[in-house]
Amino acid sequence: MARGRFITFEGGEGAGKSTQVRRLVERLRVAGHDVVATREPGGSTGAEAIRDLVLKGSADRWSPVTETLLMYAARRDHIERAIAPALERGAWVVCDRFFDSTRAYQGGAGGVAPGLIAALENHVVADVRPDLTLIFDLPVAVGLARAETHAAAAGHAETRFESKGAAFHERLRAAFQAIAAAEPDRCALIDAADTIEGVEAQVWAAVADRLAIHG
Ligand SMILES: Nc1ncnc2c1ncn2[C@@H]1O[C@H](COP(=O)(O)OP(=O)(O)O)[C@@H](O)[C@H]1O
Ligand SMILES: [Mg+2]
Repeated sequence: MARGRFITFEGGEGAGKSTQVRRLVERLRVAGHDVVATREPGGSTGAEAIRDLVLKGSADRWSPVTETLLMYAARRDHIERAIAPALERGAWVVCDRFFDSTRAYQGGAGGVAPGLIAALENHVVADVRPDLTLIFDLPVAVGLARAETHAAAAGHAETRFESKGAAFHERLRAAFQAIAAAEPDRCALIDAADTIEGVEAQVWAAVADRLAIHG
């Protein structure tokens, strides 16, 4: 059995990632693929417990380095127990956030040394790297307004990251854009300010083009 494909969604808060993960997963299933939908931080029992530590509480609850280590502890559990076994059995894995979020949030926006993050990627992620990463790009104010509306509708408060302020989110956007520019073979930049249907079409075009599937 050939290894399955690994697709990740990245970008700031309110960019539309979760909305489009659901749509892509549905389309891939209709096309006949065995698909595992998952998310970070989280995606396994242990990693979901770490998710609560990382996303809840005050914005300065953890330093960026501590956050990086928590994210990587969660990521390792998620890879060992969910992502790697699914890929090995030939399933496609679609993940809402993955290692680019650590590079962008804790690295680019949070100031953690790129060398620490690169070392963690090499030792902890190793060869479980995405085949395709969709990076959702949109103006910071639009994303934060969407996230705020969404949180209010869902009846929960903003997360630690949503409350970090505009300058943080501008650095975050720039960091994601830099990742897309540095790794064009792996990454596709998506115009997330488009309509939900427009973004869905961009995502499907990137998946069909880069991973050579039809459906
Ligand atoms: N293209 C879009 N245009 C307008 N609103 C959108 C779009 N995509 C998602 N939304 C809405 O914005 C909010 C945040 O979307 P979500 O998919 O949860 O974003 P993310 O997972 O990137 O934080 C939701 O209320 C969603 O319905
Ligand atoms: Mg989401």
